[in-house]
Amino acid sequence: MSFQILGTGAYTPEKILTNDELSSLVDTSDEWITQRVGVKERRISVCESAAEMGAKAAQRALDAAGITAEQLDLIVGATVSADCICPSMSAMVQKQIGAHCPAFDVNSACSGFLFALDTAAAFLERGGIQYALVLGAERLSRIVDWTDRSTCVIFADGAGAFVIAKGENYLGSHLFTQGGDSVLHIPLGRGNSPFYEKEEQPLAVHMSGQETFKFAVTQIENDLKLIANQAGIDLSEVSWIVPHQANYRIIELAARRLRIPIEKFVLNLEYYGNTSSASVPICFDSLVRSGKLKKGDLIALCAFGGGLSSAACLIRW
Ligand code: COA
Repeated sequence: MSFQILGTGAYTPEKILTNDELSSLVDTSDEWITQRVGVKERRISVCESAAEMGAKAAQRALDAAGITAEQLDLIVGATVSADCICPSMSAMVQKQIGAHCPAFDVNSACSGFLFALDTAAAFLERGGIQYALVLGAERLSRIVDWTDRSTCVIFADGAGAFVIAKGENYLGSHLFTQGGDSVLHIPLGRGNSPFYEKEEQPLAVHMSGQETFKFAVTQIENDLKLIANQAGIDLSEVSWIVPHQANYRIIELAARRLRIPIEKFVLNLEYYGNTSSASVPICFDSLVRSGKLKKGDLIALCAFGGGLSSAACLIRW
């Protein structure tokens, strides 16, 4: 199963919310957030939906790939914070960029982009399609409880996208799900059914921070080892690792356990926070546009989140 990346794109909304500004909303401080999470500021959408941000990232990826939206054969998107359950975020992106291909979303929370990428890779492998758009787009600010200081300091908004085509550069992948809602849960909130007997939790991110932390470190370590084994390489051969941008301490601990220099981990969480499924493609796009990538570089992508889920893949540039 393989593909090549033809172009990447990212979009983040203009509004910057700093830790100091957040400290006027909830009982927190720049010092606490910087030390415990590693975020200094994040982007917040004041009017754009996940799909609108996704369409902008998608257009940038199309421009970088040098193809038009009409040429797309498939759109697979990932989101947990679309404006509606139906239509899918990807269907809205399809309309906004002017594509005509099938479009659907996968939901695997912060691992969603890598699940979507693997899904598109399988479509390319099956044949009959040439170009696929894969995107992660999130407006998490609409589902975060802005009175809960343990979550609202972490999450943020943005979108990232890849345009891929059949090729030989996807060297291995691993998807993992440990089902259950006790650690991370985003309930929809209840409608007005007169028949429900149980009171339901309101729409918001409910998260056990420490459990998520432990899961994340373990999965980054396990998943990266697995994909290296799968591809028959040593992890030291990987030039860059693009991890889900959730918490600097998670990444640092995983790097130490894996004995990989932290300098190999691409980081932007200081400026963008955790944008869930958009986090890996936004960060990857910054690496591509930095000009640091050399042909033949091995890049590992890894993510973890609600589900619980995790995923990793290996790409040759
Ligand atoms: N500002 C100040 N204090 C805060 C705070 C904030 N934003 N959030 C929590 N605290 C307080 C707690 O109330 C607690 O106070 P107490 O000791 O008086 O009870 C104290 O800080 C320690 O809380 P704890 O939950 O143990 O902190 P932590 O070091 O585990 O950090 C997280 C909390 C959420 C930052 C951390 O657990 C984390 O990042 N987990 C992973 C979350 C994640 O990656 N989620 C995304 C998954 S995709």
